[in-house]
Amino acid sequence: MRYDSITEAIGNTPLVRIDPAVHGLRHIDLYAKLEMLNPFGSVKDRAAWNMARAALPGAGERGETVVELSSGNTAKALAVIAGMHGLPFKSVTNRMRIAEVKDLLLLLGAEIEELPGRSECLDPTDTEDPLTLFHQRLNESGGAHLHTDQYFNALNTEAHATGTGPEIVADLDGRAPDWFLACVGTAGSSTGVARALRAHDPAVRVIGLVGEKSDFIPGIRNIDEVHEVGLFDPATYDTIESVGADDAIDGMLTLVRRCGILAGPTGGAAYHGAVRHLQSLDAELTGPVRRTAVFIVCDRVESYLGYVKQRRPELMRRPPARNSVAALSDAEVRAAQVIEVADARKWIAAERPLVIDLRSSFAYAALHIDGSVNIVDELFDELVRGGLPFGKRQPVLLACPVGEQSARYAALLTRMGHPDVRSLAGGIIAWRDAGAPLVRD
Ligand SMILES: Cc1ncc(COP(=O)(O)O)c(C=O)c1O
Repeated sequence: MRYDSITEAIGNTPLVRIDPAVHGLRHIDLYAKLEMLNPFGSVKDRAAWNMARAALPGAGERGETVVELSSGNTAKALAVIAGMHGLPFKSVTNRMRIAEVKDLLLLLGAEIEELPGRSECLDPTDTEDPLTLFHQRLNESGGAHLHTDQYFNALNTEAHATGTGPEIVADLDGRAPDWFLACVGTAGSSTGVARALRAHDPAVRVIGLVGEKSDFIPGIRNIDEVHEVGLFDPATYDTIESVGADDAIDGMLTLVRRCGILAGPTGGAAYHGAVRHLQSLDAELTGPVRRTAVFIVCDRVESYLGYVKQRRPELMRRPPARNSVAALSDAEVRAAQVIEVADARKWIAAERPLVIDLRSSFAYAALHIDGSVNIVDELFDELVRGGLPFGKRQPVLLACPVGEQSARYAALLTRMGHPDVRSLAGGIIAWRDAGAPLVRD
């Protein structure tokens, strides 16, 4: 294989059968489409190249900067492509949660702008979201930007409708699989592949996989974020199912330890979601006819070692985190003390609790409760591992974007013996919606 440019190595990724002894399905052959083997490391190489390619000639002369709303694989691929073409690249995101990816982007020369957005993915229905506002400005500006616009750009989907999907059919000797399962981020890959497979055989079943409520699996939406926006069209999927972060990590472990596939968490989520979905269907099958299912392995494990270490320290021979929200039961979280905005305002005025804002420093800088301190959740997580970080006589009010994370930390601090810690119901968003005062730095 000889190429004139690394971009020619994008696509034509292997389709590898998973050993039936590993997944246990008796009548279904399960295949992994190894998008992790694209040259920049992920399924997004195809979309990034397809979206940028036509706009690259002359972009340097026009003084353009490649811009994308991405905190992960699209940004990584675009940073490489921009660099190869002598263009600057800017990644705009609500928060870089995966430290390794942030460092890699910086190494690649990317500029990173973090905005106080709410969800991991762009939600254009949320017109107040700074990320949405930035997206609108980018589209209006007509300025020196080469905005690839992955959440809306049909070239994202097309990369998979003309590449990934037909490759799967070709590798299955001209047949579409019976089931296709993929994690949903922008929805570009699942939509494009589904289109190509259905054109070949309308009977193919398409299953979209997302993270569980409020759970974080880097690169994909969670069930709360599945909106009918951008490239996402519910009609693409026969069903949408959710996978928890722990199950995604377990699926990933199976792929890396037993299959020789060094997949990241969304590959693990796709494997877990695939086997779970197919098990009962497989049990009903009889006779000699074999069925086929394909799932996508989006990227590689190496970038997620910190993510895994934080969630499952035992996998890296570290003692289980004693004071960790991961160890809480649902009942403990439900029992956490929660306080509504109006009562919280009275409580603050009367008893002056320590108000801790767990949001990102950017969100905090933009707007916060006067007198609150900002301890970003990851830092707070570290802090509480060593024990209670403040005296028991100090009442504490915890605030996060929507009140879910703060409830978990309130439950944890209660378990650790703090007598009066409360979580702000509905978070800073409820506080703002109630018209309560917020200040900016
Ligand atoms: C790790 C990972 N898995 C899955 C996906 C989903 O891909 P798509 O955006 O095509 O839905 C992404 C998208 O960014 C990703 O980064």
